[in-house]
Amino acid sequence: MTIRTVGVIGAGVMGVGVAQSLAQAGHRVVLVDVSEAILEHAKKEIVGNIRLQRMLKRNREQESVEETTKRITFTCDYRLFTDVDVVIENATEKWEVKKEIYEHIDGICPEEVIFAVNTSAISITRVGSVTRRPERVIGTHFMNPVPMKNTVEVIRGYHTSPETIATTLELLASMGKEGILVNDMPGFVSNRVLMLTVNEAVYLVQDQVATPEEVDRIFKSCFGHPMGPLETADLIGLDTILYSVDVLYESYNDSKYRPCPLLKKMVDAGLYGRKSGQGFYTYR
Ligand code: NAI
Repeated sequence: MTIRTVGVIGAGVMGVGVAQSLAQAGHRVVLVDVSEAILEHAKKEIVGNIRLQRMLKRNREQESVEETTKRITFTCDYRLFTDVDVVIENATEKWEVKKEIYEHIDGICPEEVIFAVNTSAISITRVGSVTRRPERVIGTHFMNPVPMKNTVEVIRGYHTSPETIATTLELLASMGKEGILVNDMPGFVSNRVLMLTVNEAVYLVQDQVATPEEVDRIFKSCFGHPMGPLETADLIGLDTILYSVDVLYESYNDSKYRPCPLLKKMVDAGLYGRKSGQGFYTYR
């Protein structure tokens, strides 16, 4: 299947990176979010990121920034999805938000369009169940920051077809990314472990066992991790961490996934990490 145009939903942390990587791979992109202001901010981010890549010489492309960004249509209008080949959805990590989006686009997109779900924890089989095409629904758990991370956790839902998997892996390869295919259970491989680790690291701070700096230094200096769990939380977004832990708690009905009260308090206070300028660390 030839993929020319990709619909990208959500222009937040992940959607911006996905749209940029697709455009740099030569695909046309329709990037949808709920407000013009968010799209305007996304456009600035993409231009800034490509310029930075060039300065750091990570980007071997010869074309201008304008030529790359010209391939992206920034819009709030889902009707442009009548003409896409694949959708990669990166909206907020809440079941009600994603459910409404899939019910909506299922009626708009042609039958053969593949829906690739970028989620931290939500079951791909559950997403497939609200569409008429569960065999064409697949998980693509991209890593952050998307343009710099070359591996994607690909999730096979209960009904995902071999053709859908093959086309998705081809699309990822065209973006210079390799997929690792796993079966569907909420949180998959990565976030059943990572979200528990991050949540427990927040408990350590709440219980005054150590400061965020000390927690992160133990992981970096003792275990050789490039980033500590609280730096990772700030990079992902504390809101997204909380929503993901909520999904895991609800999905497994297991108290080991109960979200740390300090995490909830920080999200209520608007301390989302890098994207808001303040989390466990300050980014201003
Ligand atoms: P974010 O909060 O930065 O961005 C989400 C975007 O979705 C927002 O711009 C919001 O306005 C938009 N949105 C909400 N409802 C929408 C709708 N009906 N139509 C179009 N856009 C809508 O979240 P982030 O971090 O980009 O996460 C997106 C998804 O990717 C989540 O499911 C998350 O779990 C997953 N993810 C996040 C990672 C991270 O490091 N932040 C890593 C891998 C996956």
